[in-house]
Amino acid sequence: MAVEAGRQRVKGLGFSAHGGLDRLGWVDLPAPEPGTGEVRIRVRAAAFNRLDRFVLEGIPGVPVELPHIVGSDASGVVDRVGAGVTDLAVGTEVLVNPGLWDGTCEYCRAGQESLCRDFRILGEHTQGSATEYIVVPRRNVHPKPAGWSWGQAAAAPLVFQTAWRALRTVGELRPGETVAVIGAGGSVAPAAIQVAHRLGGRVVVVGRTAEKVERAVALGAEAGLVTTPEKPHDRLLWEWSRKRGIDLIFDSVGADSVPRSVRALARGGRLVVIGATEGSKVELDLKTLFWRQGSIRGSTMASRSEFDQVYNELVQGHLRPVVDSEWDWDQGIAAFGRLSDPGLFGKVVLRTAA
Ligand SMILES: NC(=O)c1ccc[n+]([C@@H]2O[C@H](COP(=O)([O-])OP(=O)(O)OC[C@H]3O[C@@H](n4cnc5c(N)ncnc54)[C@H](OP(=O)(O)O)[C@@H]3O)[C@@H](O)[C@H]2O)c1
Ligand SMILES: [Zn+2]
Repeated sequence: MAVEAGRQRVKGLGFSAHGGLDRLGWVDLPAPEPGTGEVRIRVRAAAFNRLDRFVLEGIPGVPVELPHIVGSDASGVVDRVGAGVTDLAVGTEVLVNPGLWDGTCEYCRAGQESLCRDFRILGEHTQGSATEYIVVPRRNVHPKPAGWSWGQAAAAPLVFQTAWRALRTVGELRPGETVAVIGAGGSVAPAAIQVAHRLGGRVVVVGRTAEKVERAVALGAEAGLVTTPEKPHDRLLWEWSRKRGIDLIFDSVGADSVPRSVRALARGGRLVVIGATEGSKVELDLKTLFWRQGSIRGSTMASRSEFDQVYNELVQGHLRPVVDSEWDWDQGIAAFGRLSDPGLFGKVVLRTAA
């Protein structure tokens, strides 16, 4: 941490103007101080998601303060606690839940924090985690699981909570049902495959390369299918299911993928949409939807209790973070570039301190 004119400043990976990768660089900001109910964390590792690329490009309707530091996921050491925090010692090793909620609105009061009217994500609506120090509410920090590296601890929070809520709560996955995860690699799919398997689903993963599909199957899928222009995922899933269709489909690709996923649903099937990487405008044949009596549901992040549930699964070793690669602090820009690599499988971790 540098001191300038008596004020401490922190360095972070970020940008001062939206755009492509060429806009990414090092920025510095005043060191954050914890307020009431908050804690400050000396970040040891940050991890990235596709979201960080969207934030760099600029998300319409989501203005960010510039300069802006990227990164939603973090692990580190509690460095200072704000007023009212009496149950967490300085020096505790933690991981951070990047979902931020106000705790007061009707949804929060009902325990539906990810529906909060003021729901925000660390690094999207606030300064991010790829920096030396961050401040978050006390309720967002959880002990780093014993034996985990800083990188593993940073790799878990965002993707596992997303998969857990989408498949268990929103998707209502029941043991024995078929579950298709669209996408083999990247950040969230390797978590979704594990969660679907853990919840008793018969998982089929559909990906774009044989290599990534093979790695994905090893995480708990009973089948892996590789898409080609001639055989898009709806046709593959239709054949694989012997024209029955799939009970639950987890789709983050959006655009062209969603109408295909609807066509691949079984009778009474559910399509859970958690993202729209390829675009959010779709054209749907509603006849398929109502004739099969299917439904399309959206899901984002997780409630506090869902986070606790999936965190316990992780602590007990039933689920494990998948790290694509770990990078040293001075390789931050190259690390971020890895998010665009078609070989990406799991999370990109940036070690922020030795
Ligand atoms: N709502 C939420 O709470 C939430 C949480 C996490 C992520 N998301 C969203 O979910 C999406 C995926 O996130 P991520 O971090 O996993 O992204 P990512 O690392 O870029 O991974 C992209 C995933 O999409 C698959 N994919 C299939 N067709 C694709 C295409 N034409 N173009 C790009 N990808 C394609 C990839 O499959 P292959 O590996 O087989 O190529 C891969 O599994 C993003 O839009 C993200 O914003 C939403
Ligand atoms: Zn709220």
